[in-house]
Amino acid sequence: MAFPPSFLDELRNRLPLAAIVGRTVKLARKGREYQGLCPFHNEKTPSFTVNEDKGFFHCFGCGAHGDAIGFEMRAHHLSFTEAVERLAAEAGMALPAPDPEAGRREARRATLHDVLDAACAFFEAALRAPEGRDGLAYLKRRGLSDDTIARFRLGWAPQGQGGLKAALAAKGAPEALLAEAGLVRAADDGRVFDMFRGRVTFPITDRRGRPIAFGARTLGDGQPKYLNSPDTPLFHKGATLYGLAQAREPARAHNRVVAVEGYMDVIALHQAGFDMAVAPLGTALTEDQIAALWALADEPTLCFDGDAAGQRAMARAATRALPILAPGKSLGFAILPAGDDPDSLVRSRGLAALRAVIDGAQPLIDVIWRTHAEGRAVDTPERRAGLERDLMRAAGEIGDAEVRRYYQTALKDRLWQAARRPFGAKGKGKAAGRASATRDSDGKVPGMGNLTPPPTDTRRHERWLLALVIEFPGLLDGVAERLGNTTFSDSTLDNLRRGILKHLVTGLDLDGDALRAYLRSDGFSQALESLLDANEYKIARPDALRDAKTLWEHVFSLYQRSDLRAEAGQAADDYVRDWSPADWARQAAILTSRVRTSDIDGGE
Ligand code: UTP
Ligand code: MN
Repeated sequence: MAFPPSFLDELRNRLPLAAIVGRTVKLARKGREYQGLCPFHNEKTPSFTVNEDKGFFHCFGCGAHGDAIGFEMRAHHLSFTEAVERLAAEAGMALPAPDPEAGRREARRATLHDVLDAACAFFEAALRAPEGRDGLAYLKRRGLSDDTIARFRLGWAPQGQGGLKAALAAKGAPEALLAEAGLVRAADDGRVFDMFRGRVTFPITDRRGRPIAFGARTLGDGQPKYLNSPDTPLFHKGATLYGLAQAREPARAHNRVVAVEGYMDVIALHQAGFDMAVAPLGTALTEDQIAALWALADEPTLCFDGDAAGQRAMARAATRALPILAPGKSLGFAILPAGDDPDSLVRSRGLAALRAVIDGAQPLIDVIWRTHAEGRAVDTPERRAGLERDLMRAAGEIGDAEVRRYYQTALKDRLWQAARRPFGAKGKGKAAGRASATRDSDGKVPGMGNLTPPPTDTRRHERWLLALVIEFPGLLDGVAERLGNTTFSDSTLDNLRRGILKHLVTGLDLDGDALRAYLRSDGFSQALESLLDANEYKIARPDALRDAKTLWEHVFSLYQRSDLRAEAGQAADDYVRDWSPADWARQAAILTSRVRTSDIDGGE
């Protein structure tokens, strides 16, 4: 309800702010203010202050700011009205008589809620009636359990033109109200008929779980696939998240929420046991929806398709988030394997596969960087300046001064790094402009004195095993199983290892460039760069798949068998010192036979 300003002023005056805050936060007096640990973000040193004179709290850490009512809302997740009612009761103030106009609006909303709830119940019943047989079979075929169907209150809108209208009229709902609720529509000739016919219905609810609209899916190939309610006084499509009521508590509790694309994705994830998923309603994520996500978690993860459209959607969402970023608030971007949505991924490969995708989410800054920098050469001053201008323009969109400053610094930093090693350069030692050791024509490596020796410890073995596969995906055929059965000691490398295997599973026949592009889009840009740029690797990097294979086997045997390490390390040393494929093949043959012998010995 709407409260008159005079009432709210009186309420604020009567409430000792420090006492109200003090129930949640341990406060210490500091001059005219109180200080404590901010309840709205994680901190170890107090940056949360309460100014009793001015009647507001402020956190210098996360920017949380407000009066007593705002504090109650945030601290106890109340609506404005709920917070006022609670505080008024405490202050011993009677709630003002509702202003008649506001009262009427309230009553209208209440009736709208009733109508929508009745419609939802009608659809649910129809799904279980003979007429809903096809709908129910469809949902079952898509793997939904009775529990899930009930939990999400899925239903069936019967084929006829006026079934719902008649049922609700019998309960006394006037036609005008049904129209306002978006449940019926008038044809040109004035006849009024049901909005949803012959479709499975998905009620869209508010955060308390009350239906405010419907999405309705055809069973066949009819268009549109999903028909959605129009905006109504209760339903604002751009401000609503599907699944919010179900996801709200778990998301807050874990400070984690994932935005997926569709109704079925949300439902499939809930059914699989991941209950922190929500979806926007058929449009690109709006600012309101991002804000709603931030009310659940500091860094919501957005899931995108692995195709080009997904990449564009990702760039758009990233751009849209910039103006509203705040300290501590950001977004993660997870990319699904091509051809999968979360629903199909979870059904075909289980929740773990989806979790891996979510865990691999890239931070917003990576997406901003890639959006502007990918594929651009920065090998001349003009090109660098051009990229810098675009990056700074993007950073300039950030509304929050602090965050903006950090972005500017971080993006310049990356530009600087990229300029040292042109972005477009391939992983070949001879790429133009690339600051790397090159080999002369007879294959000798110049500057031997400064060589980093070949890998001699576990972590470096791990680096080489991955670097080789990344540059020569053809290796994967022979090594994937071993790579899959190994867990690397270095967690970053282990993530990359899993990232590589993921692309193997998609069955794509990738060349090195394509694999690297996928890995970059999966957030591994930095890991890739540091691997392929390592001096030791650049210098000993083989040119041919055959050599790569031998080298991989060699390193893998070192990695597995510490007893071979010293000897084979020496052989690899020689390999680097005297770069000739013939020598290498000879040494590799020795090594391979050694590995075989020890395999037969059964030694570990
Ligand atoms: P998708 O076409 O990816 O659908 O649209 P989906 O959720 O995977 O549905 P299934 O698996 O085929 O049943 C993603 C979302 O876009 C909106 C819906 O919210 C849908 O869930 N959408 C899509 C519409 O609103 N209308 C449409 O015609 C299509
Ligand atoms: Mn789908």
